Amino acid sequence: MSVLPPRSIAVVLGTRPELVKLTELTRLLGPAAWIVHTGQHYDEDMSGRFLAELGLPRPTFLTGVGGQPRAVQISAALAQLDELFSRERPRAVVVQGDTNAALAGALAANARGVPLCHVEAGLRSHDRAMPEEHNRVLIDRLADVLCAATPENRDNLLAEGLPADRIRVTGNTVVEAVRAHLPGARDREALLAPLGIRPDGYVLATVHRPENTDDPAALRAVLAELTALARTLPVVLPLHPRTRARIEAAGLTEALDVLRVTAPLGYAEFLGLARHAALLVSDSGGVQEETTVLGRPLVVVRNSTERPEAMAEFATLVRPGPELGAAARERLDRGAALRDRLADLPSPFGDGMASRRIADLLARTAAPAAAPSAPARPVAA
Ligand code: UD1
Ligand code: UDP
Repeated sequence: MSVLPPRSIAVVLGTRPELVKLTELTRLLGPAAWIVHTGQHYDEDMSGRFLAELGLPRPTFLTGVGGQPRAVQISAALAQLDELFSRERPRAVVVQGDTNAALAGALAANARGVPLCHVEAGLRSHDRAMPEEHNRVLIDRLADVLCAATPENRDNLLAEGLPADRIRVTGNTVVEAVRAHLPGARDREALLAPLGIRPDGYVLATVHRPENTDDPAALRAVLAELTALARTLPVVLPLHPRTRARIEAAGLTEALDVLRVTAPLGYAEFLGLARHAALLVSDSGGVQEETTVLGRPLVVVRNSTERPEAMAEFATLVRPGPELGAAARERLDRGAALRDRLADLPSPFGDGMASRRIADLLARTAAPAAAPSAPARPVAA
């Protein structure tokens, strides 16, 4: 990576999962990486703590983005990124996933004619109600280097007419993130004790999607199923700030009394708890991938998923309501037999080398000799 000048690869991110999934790539890029954090996530629990825990270099922070409506998040970040890139033009821009921060980064690269690399390209839920589906389709259209995590993701891109020579199947960088940050057995034991839980004896749940939080009926249904499960075994619920706000607004805080509610957890802490959970219940994208590395069963509470690779064996997809409780109990009843089976299955999301492959692709895209042949696009004044 030493051929690339310092700060020549702009890594634009803004949320917790992007911090997790871009850490190893940033480390491999070394001084060439220039992290620009849009500030979409801004609480210490959702951002600052992750920067420190993951050992990321200090980012350039944008302002006026966090807590704003989607269009404002994208437009405020885009305007500031354009200003930054006009002063200090990167040789390539990297974005990951499907957040508003990622779309802003992609648009900013495109506007300045800077080659764009999309990590986790080609995911599709085909669910137009999700802002993420629109974000990822748009980013893939703009990207020059499409890093598909799986062959299925590559096929989605090909089916949309994207040229094969822009696409590489790299694996998902989350695999190396889990391997690097899962605490050792003794540290994991120490994480469980303060919560009064024992290995294989609790459920770990996360909920933050608008489809589960912004609709009070769906939120009530999810909480009702989790509280019913809590009659059988402890349910640990690290609360995303969006979910906390919606629970308070809907007057549902009482439902939290029987759950082991925590603030958002640090990454190693969360992985440690996930590793020993009898079951996870979640609407998270990253958790769908991580459970396949950890070999733990998952119930996904969503209308759709863009990660079908995890379904059937590792996870099952349900809507909020009694279906959730039934699927959870079915998986819990299969107990150790199911967990042993999952522990033996390889993750469909890669071999732990995705970040290395992406770093190599970036080295080729942004190498001095390659710069003149970068895709020619009109450059704004
Ligand atoms: C965003 C992403 C989603 C991703 C999730 C990861 C989009 C469209 N959505 O959803 O794909 O799965 O991040 O967690 O980009 N809030 C705080 N403090 C914070 C962050 C958020 O209080 O540090 C609250 C604010 O009220 C904010 C709300 O949560 O308005 C939602 O945050 P936002 O970043 O817009 O969406 P997420 O639900 O976090
Ligand atoms: N995560 C965490 N602490 C928590 C909950 C989740 O570190 O309390 C991690 C989780 O392991 C995964 C990432 O955050 O790597 C997922 O973030 P989130 O579910 O918010 O977003 P998504 O993956 O759905 O976009």
